[in-house]
Amino acid sequence: MQFEVLAKCHTTRARVSRMRLAHGVTMLPTFMPVATQAAIKGLTPQQVEALGINLILNNTYHLNLRPGIQVLKEAGGAHKFQGWNHNLLTDSGGFQLVSLSKFTKITEEGALFASPFDGSPTMLTPEESISIQHAIGADIIMQLDDVVSSLTVGPRVEEAMWRTVRWLDRCIEFHQKSGEDDVQNLFAIVQGGLEADLRDKCLDEMIARKDRVAGYAIGGLSGGEEKDVFWRVIKQCADKLPEDRPRYSMGIGFAEDLLVCVALGVDMADCVFPTRTARFGVALTFKGPLNLRLSKHSADMRPIEEGCPCPTCSSGITRALLNHTATLETAAAHAITQHNLVFQARVMGGARDAIMNGTFPQYLKDFFANYFGDAG
Ligand code: GUN
Ligand code: ZN
Repeated sequence: MQFEVLAKCHTTRARVSRMRLAHGVTMLPTFMPVATQAAIKGLTPQQVEALGINLILNNTYHLNLRPGIQVLKEAGGAHKFQGWNHNLLTDSGGFQLVSLSKFTKITEEGALFASPFDGSPTMLTPEESISIQHAIGADIIMQLDDVVSSLTVGPRVEEAMWRTVRWLDRCIEFHQKSGEDDVQNLFAIVQGGLEADLRDKCLDEMIARKDRVAGYAIGGLSGGEEKDVFWRVIKQCADKLPEDRPRYSMGIGFAEDLLVCVALGVDMADCVFPTRTARFGVALTFKGPLNLRLSKHSADMRPIEEGCPCPTCSSGITRALLNHTATLETAAAHAITQHNLVFQARVMGGARDAIMNGTFPQYLKDFFANYFGDAG
């Protein structure tokens, strides 16, 4: 990976950087849409590419279950399997095991879970996660981490933090021995819950391994904690993480959170929110979210957002049509999904431009005034 900081905001910690991976250059800060099952729900990879998106996320957990490693190896990796020639990041599976399976048991060896197909016990170790991510061939791969909900308190939080550090060492060792470490870039994941001293210890440990990791993620957030606590953890981590590594906040997708994270020095984020909410008929706009299922849109002949360059708004699709079909037709979900991904890209692209031009503080003010104003 080549990572170069091009510009910094003078009053916040925001920065613009260029990240070159095996499948091209991605400008940061950026939002990464989630293609859990090797597809962004409702869109073909060609449609995603046409939106100008060049970095998406797949999940190791899901791809390992289906289509499985054998098929991915035969395809020559997940890029070929899904017809995606741009950058790809895979999450390690740890978070999905915890969020999806009630029957996961974490041991020092790895995460033991019941197969969703036949209930048979299956172990996901740090080495296994990296091995699967090698077969997938993503440009950025994530360490297996021991994730606890951000609302968990007590000794389990500290235990998970230290185990995440030990698992990072196992991931690093396996990755380096494999010889894949020239092309695939391993990121560490900072854990430690909402407690400043645990985060700080985790940061110290992980920064000490800087020469062996390409970037850092901030994990264990966005699980229902208070906003001010969330911001404090992001700030603490982003302040301390090395300048010359990308910083990725996991599971963050509301535009207002993205911009606060960017102001605190975060470079990358991902979330299912913009695509999931689209399937519920909610379009994201600079004046705030628009619930197109509401009957007030039934005769509204305007596009979702005036001036939006997305295929939906620029082709004359009306709010009325989307209201008419939102609950009935998959086409409305596809149209809103495309709009929402372009919205996320415009929020982040606007931030990059403003940081480059020295106007990022004004960009933030204007965004928040419009987004939370009552002009919509
Ligand atoms: N996605 C959202 N949060 C997390 C996290 O803490 N760890 C991992 N691996 N994935 C995440
Ligand atoms: Zn649009």
